[in-house]
Amino acid sequence: MKVRIAPSLLAADFARLAEAVAVAERAGAELLHVDVMDGHFVPNLTIGPPVVAALRKVTRLPLDVHLMIESPESTLARYIDAGADWISVHVEATRHLNRCLDAIRRGGARAGAAINPGTPTGALDAVSRDLDYAVVMSVNPGAGGQAFIASSIAKVERVAREAKASGHRFVIEVDGGVGPDNAGALAAAGAEILVAGTAVYGETDPSAAVARLREAALGGVKA
Ligand code: DX5
Ligand code: ZN
Repeated sequence: MKVRIAPSLLAADFARLAEAVAVAERAGAELLHVDVMDGHFVPNLTIGPPVVAALRKVTRLPLDVHLMIESPESTLARYIDAGADWISVHVEATRHLNRCLDAIRRGGARAGAAINPGTPTGALDAVSRDLDYAVVMSVNPGAGGQAFIASSIAKVERVAREAKASGHRFVIEVDGGVGPDNAGALAAAGAEILVAGTAVYGETDPSAAVARLREAALGGVKA
């Protein structure tokens, strides 16, 4: 199983985003994680479609856009137009989850559903056939640099088991507090995409940090 590393730009310097993108490219990251917050679903406010479009112009890395916004159905087309390759919506933020996932796929992007730490994995059951990926939040969304919630490892295992039982293959992404200390256990549990903000951009050598994450993840898969 291949583990992909997705540095989260939330932990980068917002005044130097293009440099942060180049850092991720040089480090060999497979995806770029872009956190969109609306000040409603979560208290913070970050970026919107114009910034996603600007990022699109400076990289060929796939943009993994994590929508922490209420009622994403009303604006997600703008993120597709801006060049997002992967888009996840929160199951807690929409009454129209299936419609959102369907719109993302029809727009040509990969469709993801994210679940908060307090949301049971069963929230994904009804949409497993509509998912390209599930995002297991291992912190409460809204900010970088929070402590990893340890029970997320068992949650990833549960999602992996339930995905298998559903017969619909989708990728499991984990987001929040991910670092070399938990990457192995997460990969062993079935996580295939590791999002890391602080553990990449908070380090003096982000390339070495990505390598450490990858090594730890591979160690977990082999163990
Ligand atoms: C949290 C965001 C995460 C965040 C992760 O709401 O969804 O993507 O950037 O940051 P770290 O890795 O610092 O926990
Ligand atoms: Zn995120």
